[in-house]
Amino acid sequence: MTIPAQKDPGTATQPPGSHPLDPLTADEIVQTSAILKAHRQLGARVRFETIVLKEPDKKSVLGFRPGDPIDREAFVVILDNDDGATYEAAVSLSQGQVTSWKHVPGVQPRIMFDEFSECEAAVKADPDFQNALRKRGIDSPDLVMVDPWSAGHYGFAEEEGKRLALARCFLRSGPTDNGYARPIEGLSVLVDLNSMKIMRIDDYGIVPMAPNPGNYAAEFMGHFREDLKPLDITQPEGPSFTVDGNSVTWQKWSLRVGFTPREGLVIHTVGYEDQGRIRPILYRAALSDMVVPYGDPSKDHYRKNAFDAGEYGIGSLTNSLTLGCDCLGEIYYFDATLNDGRGCAFTIPNAVCMHEEDYGILWKHTDWRTGKAEVRRSRRLVVSSVATVGNYEYGFFWYFYQDGTIQLEVKLTGIINTAGIAEGEKPRHGTLVAPQLNAHVHQHFFNFRLDMSVDGEANSVHEVNTVAEAPGPDNPHGNAFYAESTPLKTELEAQRIIDPLRGRYWKVSNPSVVNALGTPVGYKLMPGENILPFADPSASIMQRAGFMTKHLWATPYAPDETSATGPYPNQHPGGDGLPSYTKGNRNIENTDVVLWYTLGYHHVPRPEDWPIAPVAYCGFSLKPVGFFDTNPVLDVPPSAHHNGACHA
Ligand code: NI
Repeated sequence: MTIPAQKDPGTATQPPGSHPLDPLTADEIVQTSAILKAHRQLGARVRFETIVLKEPDKKSVLGFRPGDPIDREAFVVILDNDDGATYEAAVSLSQGQVTSWKHVPGVQPRIMFDEFSECEAAVKADPDFQNALRKRGIDSPDLVMVDPWSAGHYGFAEEEGKRLALARCFLRSGPTDNGYARPIEGLSVLVDLNSMKIMRIDDYGIVPMAPNPGNYAAEFMGHFREDLKPLDITQPEGPSFTVDGNSVTWQKWSLRVGFTPREGLVIHTVGYEDQGRIRPILYRAALSDMVVPYGDPSKDHYRKNAFDAGEYGIGSLTNSLTLGCDCLGEIYYFDATLNDGRGCAFTIPNAVCMHEEDYGILWKHTDWRTGKAEVRRSRRLVVSSVATVGNYEYGFFWYFYQDGTIQLEVKLTGIINTAGIAEGEKPRHGTLVAPQLNAHVHQHFFNFRLDMSVDGEANSVHEVNTVAEAPGPDNPHGNAFYAESTPLKTELEAQRIIDPLRGRYWKVSNPSVVNALGTPVGYKLMPGENILPFADPSASIMQRAGFMTKHLWATPYAPDETSATGPYPNQHPGGDGLPSYTKGNRNIENTDVVLWYTLGYHHVPRPEDWPIAPVAYCGFSLKPVGFFDTNPVLDVPPSAHHNGACHA
């Protein structure tokens, strides 16, 4: 079935909820909260942090055939604002029952979107806050922006057990201008999110407001460059992919598109058709968490870091995308349906964009003797979403190439975080990006959880380094080098960092399946640009985001190990997630392996990143290595051109 480019709900033959991995529908979300409210007598002061599909076990997903009965179950996290208690529940939608209910002591669910606006309103209404503003010549809080940042964990006794946000404030000069151009420096507000009351205001002293407006929106631009001619992408016969519910097939690829409030875009059950059968590669892939540590030690800035998935729910902050603006060409959009704090459902229309892109040449050779040239054009399938977390934007782009390569690219843009600085002062831990405006040095660390299934679930992991052979009888001319493969047999052995100078990569192979050349079939994880954290090992953030210290982690599959930072990173003292999962040093040989890749983007801000940062890119690839017997794209047909076909 070929679907038209504009979304037409009538084209999906599978209704939502007809596959075990389909995200919950709006009805199912509302039904879940209604069952819980009725069966657990939940009061009005309860917030629903999460209402999400409880994914069935792998066996039943992999064994599922269309039409089989499905037991739909929801996983729920609830916060009671009255006593600050957190509960986890499971609700069977098929039976209309609460199937499990437990109190989770000592944790804080992530900061919910509802709390953002309530926190802003509470801070702006506070008389002490208004006094602090007046000291700065700000007579009304109307144009003040209050960004609630996660408070972290610094061992302060008065913060123990409280649900907190650290409000950072900025001043707009008009209702639609760039408020981040005017940080209200020196003013730090700690808010108790359960009572929605100010706990403490720290005033570190007045710094004069940065003078420039820092606007970028079209309405503020007096002039645009005039030499851009139209560039249209047209596919007169429509795109080459087909969509059925959440299932996508394109070229030889098949996959499912999923979405959760915490992770955002999820890619399920990726396979590639080869010699008449679909060969599995990935069972599930998604961002597991991310953190942005900043490098300024002063005032409250030392507390500046944010886990945008685990502390804010990057999926729930996802943009609704616009055809011709966010995505160009023949686009198919998936909506995302999520829960709000009251247990109602809301839909982000066009949350996930899917389209094909021309990607230059796929392969080429010219026989110089005959003058005969063979060239094929490459195409990729792009599945993407973009989220806005306060000042920053993150795009998550999954690319599927015809040759079996899977690539993940993060696009970073938006407005860099700013701090005020006195006139004439030069920042040590940041860059002056405009007069009296300091952008602190920082890093963005993402962790992607890649549940591999290379031709089946039983996989092994190897590290491959290229080694220079020592000169000697076997290397008389000194030119010898070779690739050396070392098995990583346990979790501790598999905690690795990149080494580009040794050409390091990691290979996941299936020891029970060999290719035509007799070697186990595999996929390799190719790192791109990457970095390690600069925070000292003693820093709080190094405990709380221990995943940053290694680029590769590997674990045996465990259904409850889903995040590099553990289930509740908000205000967590540290140690949870990957460092805790891997403590037992479990075997990862010939078993159901999950790879966790940490991707660091280092950001020393530039004046060019202000007032809005052009997109920066980082990512990694998964490439077949002996997965196929030979080049899998010989059968891609030559393209037509104005003189005939692109060959001979
Ligand atoms: Ni940045």
